[in-house]
Amino acid sequence: MTIIIDAKEGIDYKKLEKAALILREGGLVAFPTETVYGLGANALLKDAVDKIFWAKGRPQDNPLIVHVSSKDMLEMCAEITDERVYMLIERFWPGPLTIVLPKKDVIPENVTAGLSTVGVRMPANKIALELIRLSGIPVAAPSANVSGKPSPTEAKHVIEDLMGKVDVIIDGGKCSFGLESTVVDLSCEKAVILRPGAISYFALKKVLGDIEYSKAVVEGLTGTVPRSPGMKYKHYAPDAKLIIVKGRIDKRIDKINEMKKKLEFKGYNVGILCFYETAHNFDSQYKLILGSMFDAKECGRNLFSILRKFNQLGVDYILCEWGDFDLEFLALENRLYKAAANNIVEVL
Ligand code: TXA
Ligand code: MG
Repeated sequence: MTIIIDAKEGIDYKKLEKAALILREGGLVAFPTETVYGLGANALLKDAVDKIFWAKGRPQDNPLIVHVSSKDMLEMCAEITDERVYMLIERFWPGPLTIVLPKKDVIPENVTAGLSTVGVRMPANKIALELIRLSGIPVAAPSANVSGKPSPTEAKHVIEDLMGKVDVIIDGGKCSFGLESTVVDLSCEKAVILRPGAISYFALKKVLGDIEYSKAVVEGLTGTVPRSPGMKYKHYAPDAKLIIVKGRIDKRIDKINEMKKKLEFKGYNVGILCFYETAHNFDSQYKLILGSMFDAKECGRNLFSILRKFNQLGVDYILCEWGDFDLEFLALENRLYKAAANNIVEVL
């Protein structure tokens, strides 16, 4: 049975303490963070962590992020390699930044999928922080969705995916960022961004000096490389086939309308994913708006819930317009390309 705790209007400490106890004793608790909802288990208990993989249907070789509520908890889980770690946590924690460091032995191998490193993050969401603090243990938590589906940014998405499979779901309303944390690897000399997120390359560079993107991030974004190792599993995928149509605004609008016509002629239901500014160019009952093309934050907040809305509409295809946007859109673009499994039509 799954208990749902409504914390949208604030924290009821009695209820949160109960959830914290369940978590500490090996249960599964889904909770809101500022990025996406997490599916938490006691990171010190191998059996509890196994339940996460079972509930999500997650491949065993994909490591989990450990969530902490204090510097002491970080030091319990990971070797602090150098001053850079403290510089980062001073500047960005609590917040949407995961730092990969050499792991300590208290963290069971299934948390890190056998790797010698562990990703650690201190979430900024008050409910998440208090839940971890009250439980008194580091909390392993991937996004609280069924593996391969869009990440959950509202409790109803978690309910849709995991009802009956977890002990508690805490409803804290909509997530403020809506895209997962930036993951930076500090386990080697050179700092590497493994996943782009709300904390940008430039913000990290300001603190660290030297930093680069991993090959997987860069290749994923060029869309030319068929499948890097990180792309071997489905990610964020809606039920429909998502195709990104990228190019100059007038050209991509024409191309989408042309593709839509052809697909509809074949009897398919075609969804359109567009911006406020371009929406009037598309005539469709299955049209959803990501946000303003000048507001990366708004679009980022909406992406995952919109991908889920298309599932409800029951479309066969989603045609999504895209352009050459600036770096603020990078994290969003990274997720969108993955959701489309790099199905991109470029119009010049
Ligand atoms: O914002 C977030 O990070 C959310 C919330 C719940 O905190 N969590 C999240 O977890 O996105 P998940 O499991 O969906 O994604 C974790 C990512 C994966 O891409 C995983 O490969 C990477 O972090 N990761 C975790 N530990 C790692 C490690 N030791 N080395 C390299 N990558 C790691
Ligand atoms: Mg995930």
